[in-house]
Amino acid sequence: MAIEIRPTGAALGAAVAGVDLTAPSDETLARIRGALRDHLVLRFRGTDLDDASYVAFGRTFGEIEPPDEHTRTASMTDAEFPEMSVISNIVEGGVARGESGEGELRWHTDHGFMERPAGFTMLLAREVPAKGGDTSFLNMYRAYEALPDDLRARVEGLSVKHQASHGSTGQRRPGYLDLESDDPRDLPGAIHPIVRTHPETGRKALFLGRRFGSYIPPLALEESEALLDALWDHATRDEFAWTQRWQVGDLIIWDNRCTMHRRDGFAGHGRRRMHRLMTRGERPV
Ligand code: SIN
Repeated sequence: MAIEIRPTGAALGAAVAGVDLTAPSDETLARIRGALRDHLVLRFRGTDLDDASYVAFGRTFGEIEPPDEHTRTASMTDAEFPEMSVISNIVEGGVARGESGEGELRWHTDHGFMERPAGFTMLLAREVPAKGGDTSFLNMYRAYEALPDDLRARVEGLSVKHQASHGSTGQRRPGYLDLESDDPRDLPGAIHPIVRTHPETGRKALFLGRRFGSYIPPLALEESEALLDALWDHATRDEFAWTQRWQVGDLIIWDNRCTMHRRDGFAGHGRRRMHRLMTRGERPV
């Protein structure tokens, strides 16, 4: 079967068909990696992978990093596949069967708060709600390339702290409940260049992490907030975005080194369960 790669026509994303993900050849994997470099996010529809085959496929993209110790909750991992996390709103017998609930998840990059943020993330849809829960992506190469000259000059050589203590819902993570301050200057997190160079393509991309709690040292807090607001207003424009509307069996892979993503809320619209894998990326430069 020939591989078909169909771009979405938006700023990023492509649909891939004609691939057997249970036994991909080296040539097929090379095509997929090439398509990811070109399109940043790939969707495989109607996959039929069990968790063992899914994890095996994920490992072909690098070392899988389980949820970090400060973010992990008992419900988030599966005893049989500890490197896989369960993103779900399902509660059974009063016990949560996954993480992240059914609210909005704001724009972010996975594991930006770590010294080596995630490289690739994969989400495999096991259950989807009747409405909502869509996941949108931004092309951060395009966001960088379209920066107005004055903004580009201002961020040259600057870094930003990707705070670790609050997740994409805006809530504190389980490992940080006793922090005394929410001042962005005091929050824990990793500091990365605002403009990073992708290690495979050599292209520059904006690398912003999460808006909440970010801080650009050594600027005064007001100056940091104003510059971050300007960058976020620019980077989250619709022209850089594409939205995935989920079906059961969809597998999405994205490259965190040149994208951001967010999820719509779906409260009251049913169960949603995603199985997630993340690879360990490199230190951004
Ligand atoms: C995530 O941000 O890792 C999950 C996104 C989603 O649930 O669509």
